[in-house]
Amino acid sequence: MRGNSLLQCLSLVLIFSCLVSLSCARPARLLSSSNALHVKAVNLGGWLVTEGWIKPSLFDGIVNKDLLDGTQIQLKSVTQQMYLAAESGGGTILVANRTSASGWETFKLWRIDESTFNFRVFNWQFVGLSSDRNQIVATATSPSTSETLQIIRNSDKSQVRIRAPNGSFIQAKTAVSVTADYTEESTSWGDDDPSVFEMKSVGQLQGEFQITNGYGTEAAAPILRNHWSTYIVEDDFRSIASSGLNTVRIPVGWWIASDPNPPKPFVGGSLQALDNAFTWAEKYNLKVIVDLHAAPGSQNGFEHSASRDGKQEWGTTDENIKQTVNVIDFLAFRYAKRRGLLAIELINEPLAPGATLDSLKKYYQAGYNAVRKHTPNAYVIMSNRLSAQSTELLQFASGFQKSVLDVHYYNLFSSVFTSMTVQENIDYINNNRSTDLNTVSVANGPLVFVGEWTAEWAVNGAAKEDYQRFAQAQLDVYGRATFGWAYWTWQNVNNPWSMKYMIDNGYISLK
Ligand SMILES: *[C@@H]1O[C@H](CO)[C@@H](O)[C@H](O)[C@H]1NC(C)=O
Ligand SMILES: *[C@@H]1O[C@H](CO)[C@@H](O)[C@H](O)[C@H]1NC(C)=O
Ligand SMILES: *[C@@H]1O[C@H](CO)[C@@H](O)[C@H](O)[C@H]1NC(C)=O
Repeated sequence: MRGNSLLQCLSLVLIFSCLVSLSCARPARLLSSSNALHVKAVNLGGWLVTEGWIKPSLFDGIVNKDLLDGTQIQLKSVTQQMYLAAESGGGTILVANRTSASGWETFKLWRIDESTFNFRVFNWQFVGLSSDRNQIVATATSPSTSETLQIIRNSDKSQVRIRAPNGSFIQAKTAVSVTADYTEESTSWGDDDPSVFEMKSVGQLQGEFQITNGYGTEAAAPILRNHWSTYIVEDDFRSIASSGLNTVRIPVGWWIASDPNPPKPFVGGSLQALDNAFTWAEKYNLKVIVDLHAAPGSQNGFEHSASRDGKQEWGTTDENIKQTVNVIDFLAFRYAKRRGLLAIELINEPLAPGATLDSLKKYYQAGYNAVRKHTPNAYVIMSNRLSAQSTELLQFASGFQKSVLDVHYYNLFSSVFTSMTVQENIDYINNNRSTDLNTVSVANGPLVFVGEWTAEWAVNGAAKEDYQRFAQAQLDVYGRATFGWAYWTWQNVNNPWSMKYMIDNGYISLK
């Protein structure tokens, strides 16, 4: 009996030590592939950086909300039946001799108030009075009083008159003479009035600049603060954790670093919301990726980088790069000691050619150092440039400890996908995306993160089962990314773009 019990005891010890060594070996193996946590994340898009398409109702209270900063308008003279154009795209006179409209015939608005604007032309000059004649020109590189124009709309808003700063209306006198000397105050909006133009909007931005400047900073402040404290709440973190996700990627804007008094038109208070996010993440055992989504000057001209009018100015001066590094330094300092901090993403979706490879590398080097000044542990995520070679940063990023390369995979935004069937979309994930991912996954290279993807696609009228198969194919392929993945986004009025909706309604299952 004693011998038996000794044997039993020995075998128990053996089994026990086996169990111990097994349970130790598992994390060790994962660690040896150099990343302990495999990130399964959701983006908290449309929260601290506004994107109108994610929650359009935020813009509802803006007067003339179809005329925001960056709105692109085209103007057709009713007397000439020709479009107004900045000749040569800018730098000289305006004319009204175009039968069709594209770049040179398109004006981007800067909003001063609900009816007062600057008009920016193709080559980025501003429309205004010339100093010597009555001619309207597009020569000013920055707007002043002479470039301040008032838009007066007719009742159905399809026609406008434009008042020049000297009180006269702009008129298309002839096809090649556009002047600011029409003084008749009243109009019947008839086809015989040379100061009347048909106005068509051909593009809009609805980002942070548009919402803050559209309402005006004072009026925007309570609206945004209410959005920040109601759109994402503690309960979202609880459900994110319970659905099998382990991380949130949180887009932030550069103005967060000057909270509570950011430069106009931005509104203070998003920093408090980010602090709350860390507290809730830690409570529910989630990790946080802080993602600089909007860099000063705009790195891609899209609304989600808080562009005013589509122009990309990020990275064009050393001063601008330094300002961006200071934002990273601020964020790293503030959150370095937080248990929830997993990574800082230095910039989201920089776009070539505005963001040059040189300026980007210079910034990534300095941004990396700024993070490391405060923490040896946080991963530093470097985003690939949109529409550039996916491998262009591989070697560069390999030179840094705990660096991660972010690639975004959407079966959208390209004509390649417009007529793909359900099965072709799924094959594209299994073959092409899988190859894309392998191409950037190299030995001793950075970890790879599919930081944005979605189950939305260009297929019309897809069945629930189609969405399920498409989402699952992506989960399988992106599950092989060495750092992990993040769905875009948690909440969205467009259901397939809302991971919350997709999980709650059985389209996506992580268990
Ligand atoms: C429009 O007028 C300008 C100025 O006279 C001229 O240079 C240009 O060729 C004209 N364009 C068209 C399409 O008629
Ligand atoms: C301003 O308007 C007047 C008409 O009131 C016009 O005669 C004058 O030429 C305009 N000035 C300029 C600089 O365009
Ligand atoms: C996807 O990859 C296949 C080969 O693997 C290639 O023939 C095809 O052109 C790719 N599709 C697209 C849309 O690039």
